[in-house]
Amino acid sequence: MTRTSRASDVALSNDKRRRAWAKRAPKYDRSIGFFERRVFGTDSRAWACAHAKGETLEVAVGTGLNLPLYDADVRLTAIDLSPQMLQIAKQRADEIDRAADLQEADAHQLPFVDASFDTVVCTYSLCNIPDPHRAVGEMKRVLRPGGQLVLVDHIRSSVKPVLWLQKLIEFFSMRSEGEHMTRRPLEEVEAHGFTVTQRERLGPGAVVERLVAERNS
Ligand SMILES: C[S@@+](CC[C@H](N)C(=O)[O-])C[C@H]1O[C@@H](n2cnc3c(N)ncnc32)[C@H](O)[C@@H]1O
Repeated sequence: MTRTSRASDVALSNDKRRRAWAKRAPKYDRSIGFFERRVFGTDSRAWACAHAKGETLEVAVGTGLNLPLYDADVRLTAIDLSPQMLQIAKQRADEIDRAADLQEADAHQLPFVDASFDTVVCTYSLCNIPDPHRAVGEMKRVLRPGGQLVLVDHIRSSVKPVLWLQKLIEFFSMRSEGEHMTRRPLEEVEAHGFTVTQRERLGPGAVVERLVAERNS
């Protein structure tokens, strides 16, 4: 999908994601856990949540794997497109007694007024959200000036053979569930004029990038 897609394309792509996650939701924790242990690394969730301060929005919260990792004084709102993923996140929040306002919503049209959050967190989701350019623009809109955007995602490798493998996997994963392997969220963050304050790549083939960026104005 090209930068800033048509609204009708986004709606169709969202429908495809909803259908895919309705099926995948019960198995998601096991499958992402496997990839985190073997490829992505297991400390990035705690790293991301440690940056959350004050009014915090998690975009595309999924099954809520980050919920136990936020400090108790973080006031948390989280959205996801998939009712089935959110249902699991709600169960998790209840089980661990984590107060959080969990809502079904679209990352391309966040249902919040401008400049309402101190921190926006998004982990392993800009690879799946249909239009990452628009989604990062929405993240910027709801952040207060000086607020921080915290992203963790798998990205295209800088190692050629790994990149070729990612392209092969992406050929199938984009068609089946809209999952991208070769995106680079950093490009969207820079295009929206954020100041990147922390950035590191990790994992085999440097396929994971985590970054913190500040909304200037
Ligand atoms: C790979 S999962 C990641 C879940 C979670 N962030 C994590 O770290 O485990 C991708 C999530 O993105 C959500 N998603 C995809 N498109 C979205 C959209 N347009 N708006 C909100 N959430 C979306 C999916 O429903 C799914 O829960």
